[in-house]
Amino acid sequence: MQVQVQDEKELAKEKAFQARIDAGEKIEPKDWMPERYRKQLIRMMSQHAHSEIVGMLPEGNWITRAPSLRRKAALLAKVQDEAGHGLYLYSAAETLGIEREELIYQLNSGKAKYSSIFNYPTLSWADIGAIGWLVDGAAIINQVALTKASYGPYARAMVRICKEESFHQRQGFEIMNTLASGTDAQKKMAQDALNRWWWPSLMMFGPPDDNSPNSADLMAWRVKSDSNDTLRQKFVDRVAPQAEFMGLRIPDDKLKFHPETESYTFGEIDWAEFNHVIRGNGPCNKQRMRARQKAHEEGAWVREAALAYASKQA
Ligand code: 3HC
Repeated sequence: MQVQVQDEKELAKEKAFQARIDAGEKIEPKDWMPERYRKQLIRMMSQHAHSEIVGMLPEGNWITRAPSLRRKAALLAKVQDEAGHGLYLYSAAETLGIEREELIYQLNSGKAKYSSIFNYPTLSWADIGAIGWLVDGAAIINQVALTKASYGPYARAMVRICKEESFHQRQGFEIMNTLASGTDAQKKMAQDALNRWWWPSLMMFGPPDDNSPNSADLMAWRVKSDSNDTLRQKFVDRVAPQAEFMGLRIPDDKLKFHPETESYTFGEIDWAEFNHVIRGNGPCNKQRMRARQKAHEEGAWVREAALAYASKQA
């Protein structure tokens, strides 16, 4: 009898919770929430934070080789922003009752995912343009939708992060546009970067809707307001005209504009490649993991010093 009363109480709480979500209310850290909601948010927000931190690696690779002081300053600022986004998102995830150390352990042990896109190499300066233009462009589409997320700390973090992403996307587009209107060699470099970053950028939005196990819950709880495929379509419709403006060719023979819908249809994404990368077998997964593990080990003395100082103050 006791268990039945307990279940009924839980059900009533879940019903009241869903009514709050449906009314468009924000859920705050101290509010009651179903354990599944909390776990889903920890998964999504921590992987988002991991992506920001790992995302610094491919771009950091070009800071010392930027072609001008202006480009170097913009890239430095961007990489520093990404670090801040990661810390911001780790702090937002901690409001759900998980320790920062646990989150870092999950990343460095390979238990947690981070965005597939950061497992590709940056082979030329044009890659830095392609990342800003395409990867941050994709992130903006995804993250603007997340500014409406039902979990307060996540939605508020997104508002702040999206402001900085716009600068990231603009500086990337400017690099690509400068190269595309430069010498033949520069235009070739820009086209090569587009060829390598286009399809992995589409994969950033996640698997197709009919193979997205988390989306149903996340959309019912208004964490995600659009599906993976809807956001991917928004990205293609926004970026394809930009490539055309720059005189760059998107590497998809099936890409076609439909004036009646003012939208593009495009070719099949290689989901085998996507799964290969998210299972840890992409071109740079091992290198990225080693870099993060090394940084954590080398940073041990800073953590020890900070803890020693804090305990002395206590
Ligand atoms: N890379 C790695 N894993 C991915 C992925 C990707 N691009 N897309 C999906 N996955 C994983 C999911 O994590 C899930 O695995 P899990 O259950 O073990 O965590 C599985 O594939 C199935 O995918 P779902 O569609 O069911 O998962 P979600 O509903 O969580 O959707 C998502 C995936 C669209 C990435 C969503 O999690 C999301 O919007 N996350 C927040 C935004 C984010 O993380 N962006 C990453 C890039 S950050 C960035 O670009 C920073 C910028 O400054 C450069």
